[in-house]
Amino acid sequence: MSEPLLEARDLSRSFGALVVADGVSLALAPGARHALIGPNGAGKTTLVNLITGTVEPSGGSILLDGHDVTHWSQARRVKHGLARTFQINTLFRGLSVIENVSMAISERRSLAARWWRRADARGDVIAEGMALLESLKLDGEAQRLVRELPYGRQRLVELAIALGLRPKVLLLDEPAAGVPSAESHVLLEAVEALPESMAVLMIEHDMDIVFRFAERVTVLVSGAILTEGAPAEVGADPRVQEVYLGENAELHGGRR
Ligand SMILES: Nc1ncnc2c1ncn2[C@@H]1O[C@H](COP(=O)(O)OP(=O)(O)OP(=O)(O)O)[C@@H](O)[C@H]1O
Ligand SMILES: [Mg+2]
Repeated sequence: MSEPLLEARDLSRSFGALVVADGVSLALAPGARHALIGPNGAGKTTLVNLITGTVEPSGGSILLDGHDVTHWSQARRVKHGLARTFQINTLFRGLSVIENVSMAISERRSLAARWWRRADARGDVIAEGMALLESLKLDGEAQRLVRELPYGRQRLVELAIALGLRPKVLLLDEPAAGVPSAESHVLLEAVEALPESMAVLMIEHDMDIVFRFAERVTVLVSGAILTEGAPAEVGADPRVQEVYLGENAELHGGRR
């Protein structure tokens, strides 16, 4: 296996008495398609928050493309190739789709806050943004305000923003949550079309999606890794089935 692009080593974190990460280790090689599953409250989003730097670990370390980023700011991690999408979207709803995406692109290019006043920079950023939107079949909605779009399209914009950062590692926190099934296939197709070399970690409750997407699956329960393996192996594990017993709705994606 090639050197991991992202490695979490023995991460731990508690909120008061609640242990949300209990010695969690995880590695993503270039091109990884890795799913993170586990019941509600298992600590999946917290793990993404630890990796991206929104939550500080109390122990352990995080390596990104050979750098120890454990104490780096979020922004610096982004600059070094780490991007994420959120479980609940965080878009600028009063701005257009292309404006949202252009901000991410200008951030990556380290353009100053007034980049849009410079015609050359503006033209360049917008051209790149439009190409990105085209690749996601969102170009027809480039000028629309985000808040006018159906939720599934908004989630696609969120993905576009993350891709505008040109990450080496992409963390997706339930990208299809809240999206009606009639629309969710568009998101999944976009995820399937991500550049091959990108390492992708996806938190997902719907096991059909997990099986379609992932080459490896990690199961998190109460902040600790229960098991990790190939999807078929993990799906057949009686301990995993037991965790999901009584949570069948989740296993079949019927939750939100
Ligand atoms: N900032 C915080 N302060 C206190 N408790 C928190 C904080 N963030 C998360 N928690 C708690 O930590 C636990 C793990 O939450 P987390 O959001 O990581 O779970 P999850 O696996 O993503 O769940 P879900 O499937 O519902 O999204 C939960 O009990 C949650 O209430
Ligand atoms: Mg979560």
